[in-house]
Amino acid sequence: MSTPLNLAILGGDGTGPEVVAQALRVLEAVTADGSVAVQTTHFDYGAAHYLATGSVITDEEVDELRGFDAILLGAVGHPDVKPGILEKGLLLKLRFQLDQFINLRPVKLYPGIETPLKDKGPDDIDFVCVRENTEDLYCGNGGRARVGTPQEISTQEMIATRFGVERCVRYAFELAKTRERKHLTLVHKTNVLTHCGGTWFDTFRDLATEYSDVETDYHHVDACCMYMATKPEIYDTVVVPNMFGDIITDLGAAVAGGMGIAASGNLNPDAGAGSVSMFEPVHGSSPDIAGQDKANPLACIDSLAMLLRETGRVKQRPALSKAGDKVAAAVQAVTPNFTGKRLDRSGYSTTEIGDMAIAALG
Ligand code: NAD
Ligand code: IPM
Ligand code: MN
Repeated sequence: MSTPLNLAILGGDGTGPEVVAQALRVLEAVTADGSVAVQTTHFDYGAAHYLATGSVITDEEVDELRGFDAILLGAVGHPDVKPGILEKGLLLKLRFQLDQFINLRPVKLYPGIETPLKDKGPDDIDFVCVRENTEDLYCGNGGRARVGTPQEISTQEMIATRFGVERCVRYAFELAKTRERKHLTLVHKTNVLTHCGGTWFDTFRDLATEYSDVETDYHHVDACCMYMATKPEIYDTVVVPNMFGDIITDLGAAVAGGMGIAASGNLNPDAGAGSVSMFEPVHGSSPDIAGQDKANPLACIDSLAMLLRETGRVKQRPALSKAGDKVAAAVQAVTPNFTGKRLDRSGYSTTEIGDMAIAALG
């Protein structure tokens, strides 16, 4: 038997553990033939852990995660905890400290899923967003003073470093090169954010000279939102800073049918010692439907497919990639069950959709 795939499982809050449970059932089924041995370790970070201990996750606990092959995360955020504490203290801390500098978010309309866009089909909606994941407004620079007075002041600073931008843009060019259309669009707001936008635009322009086989384009983020909703077929690979990337990928999830299907990977693609990538659905902990067996687990199951494929690539373990391909195929085999239904309030339970995915594995 090969070395086990050593996974850290962070269910998190709300619907997070519910969708992760289904992804783990799928993982068990896809590896039942013995092709891949799997070892999972569960961590209970999230609202309950924070409320009980006063700690979200310590630096030492983050370091412990470096020993795993990959992390599967559900979602974080809870109505009983002030906004930002868990999101910044857990999710962003992991992305930053584990230097997961790429947030890869495919936007693909699967067969059977309905898009809210009139007259658009799977051929029109098939692109991938490369969201920078360690800089920008997310660094938290700034502050708030004289709170509650008429003189209150707050600032929140946008950061772009040539190093951070360049490694992200280079990843996007490399990815674009592997795709059929070989087309990369930079999305920013260079007409207003002339400082950070300048760094992004110049880096993009400079790297483009090294990738003459990739066609390039630039869109302001406001126009990008309009195009995504009117002519999504113009996009193939999109590279975007952190904050705009957060926003346009929710829009992307919506045009591809909804949050129930949108998968993502927080990647440290360098695969150096101590680096570990983390895979999670784009959606949050959905307190409105938590505990009701209503969350669609397909986004988490597709994130598991990404985990297996990416870990297989990085660790050069073809058996993992193959298992990932099978899980991705199962997700696409299940989607026709949603024809004429919404992805999120489909009427199927979380468990039923997990059953469908397992059955589709064959
Ligand atoms: P959300 O994605 O949790 O929910 C938005 C809406 O989409 C809700 O109506 C929800 O029911 C629905 N939805 C989302 N995923 C679904 C699924 N798989 N199946 C069916 N319906 C689904 O976003 P929100 O309401 O803005 O945030 C809720 C909490 O989650 C907040 O605390 C927020 O900070 C956090 N959050 C966490 C992450 C993450 O962990 N990556 C991402 C976004 C939001
Ligand atoms: C996401 C989420 C996170 C983000 C939040 C919860 C910190 O919205 O993964 O898209 O803004 O990146
Ligand atoms: Mn988001």
